[in-house]
Amino acid sequence: MEGAKNIGSELILGIDTSCDDTSAAVVAEGKKILSNIVSSQSDIHKKYGGIVPELASRRHIEMIWPVVDEALNAAAITLDDIAAIAVCHGPGLIGSLLVGCGFAKAAAYAKNKPVVAVNHLEGHIFSAFLDHENIEFPFLSLIASGGHTSLYIVNDFGQYMELGRTRDDAAGEAYDKVAKLLGLAYPGGPVIDNLALEGNPKAFDFPRAYVPESFDFSFSGLKTAVKSAVSRQSQAAGDAEFIKDIAASFQSAVVDVLVRKVEWAIVKKGIKRVTLSGGVSANSELRKRFKEMAEEREVELFLPSISFCTDNAAMIAAAGYHHFKAGNIAGIDLNPKAYLPL
Ligand code: KG4
Ligand code: ZN
Repeated sequence: MEGAKNIGSELILGIDTSCDDTSAAVVAEGKKILSNIVSSQSDIHKKYGGIVPELASRRHIEMIWPVVDEALNAAAITLDDIAAIAVCHGPGLIGSLLVGCGFAKAAAYAKNKPVVAVNHLEGHIFSAFLDHENIEFPFLSLIASGGHTSLYIVNDFGQYMELGRTRDDAAGEAYDKVAKLLGLAYPGGPVIDNLALEGNPKAFDFPRAYVPESFDFSFSGLKTAVKSAVSRQSQAAGDAEFIKDIAASFQSAVVDVLVRKVEWAIVKKGIKRVTLSGGVSANSELRKRFKEMAEEREVELFLPSISFCTDNAAMIAAAGYHHFKAGNIAGIDLNPKAYLPL
C-alpha cells in the first residue's frame, strides 16, 4: 500500500464506522466536499434506548459497501480516481471500527492505494474546516459528543493539547440518559433540544459541576439530579409540561457549564478563536449561548453546519488529507483501537 502514494489527484475517500453511523465521503484537497453519505442506525437502537454494539457492527457490515458505493457515485468517481483512503481507527466501538478498517485495507490492497488512519476526535476537530477554510492557529476546540467531552488547544495540524475532559459522562451521553429517563426516543439530544424550546429553564435548579481550578467536566451529578426530580414527581412524569420543564432546565445546566468552561479557557489562555464540534454542538441553545458569549468577548467562533456536528466521514477525509500530505501512511497491519487518545 505504501508504494502508491502519488496516484491520481488529491481526492480522499473518508470512512467512519466508529459508532452507530456508517459513513463515507469524498473530499478534494481536505476541504471541498464532493459527497458525504451517512447511514444512520437510530431506528435499530431506538427501542433499547442506546447503542447495542453487536447490532451496530452487524449493520456496518451490511451497509459499508452500499454507503461507499453511494459516496463514489455521488462524487461521480470510482475507487481508481482517489489518492488515498482515510479511515477512522478509534476511539469507538471495537466491532464497529473493525468493519471500517477491514474494508479500507481490503479496498486499498485491491486498488493499490494508500490508507491513512485518522483519530475520530481529530476528525471532529477538523469538521470546523469543512465550513471555514481559513482558521488561524492556535484555537480552542470543544468536542461535545455522545462519547466525548473534551477541550483542546489546537496549535497546528496534528498538534493538540488537551486542557480538560469529562470525568464521567459525556455531554451527549447525559442527553441520551436523561431522554431515556423521561421515556423519550434515542438519540435524546435532538428530542430534548426541541422539547426545551417550550419548557421553563428555571423550573428546576439543577446542579452545575464547574470542577474548580480545572478544565475538566462532569455531568453524572446532573443526570442523578434529574433522576431524583423525575422519581419525586413520578405521578406527573407523563405530563407534557413537566417533561418540557425538565428538558429546558437540564439543557440550561449543560449549556451553562460548556459555555463557562470555554469562556474561562479564553481568558486564562488568551486565545480568541473557538471551534465547536460533536453532536451536542448541533444544540440550538448551545449555539445561541456560544454566539452571545463570543460577541461579548470579541472572540471568533467557528460553528460547524448541523450535518458536520454529528459523525460523518467528510471530517475523517479532511483530517486524513493532512496526514496524507505529511506522508503518514498506515501499513496493512493497521488495527483499530477502542481507546485511542489524541
Ligand atoms: O458526534 P456524535 O454524532 O457521535 C459521537 O461521536 O458520540 O454525537 C452524538 C451525540 C448523541 O449523544 C446525541 O444525543 C447528541 O450528540 N446530539 C445532541 C443534538 N444532536 C445530537 N445533543 C444535544 N442537542 C442536539 N441538537
Ligand atoms: Zn463523534
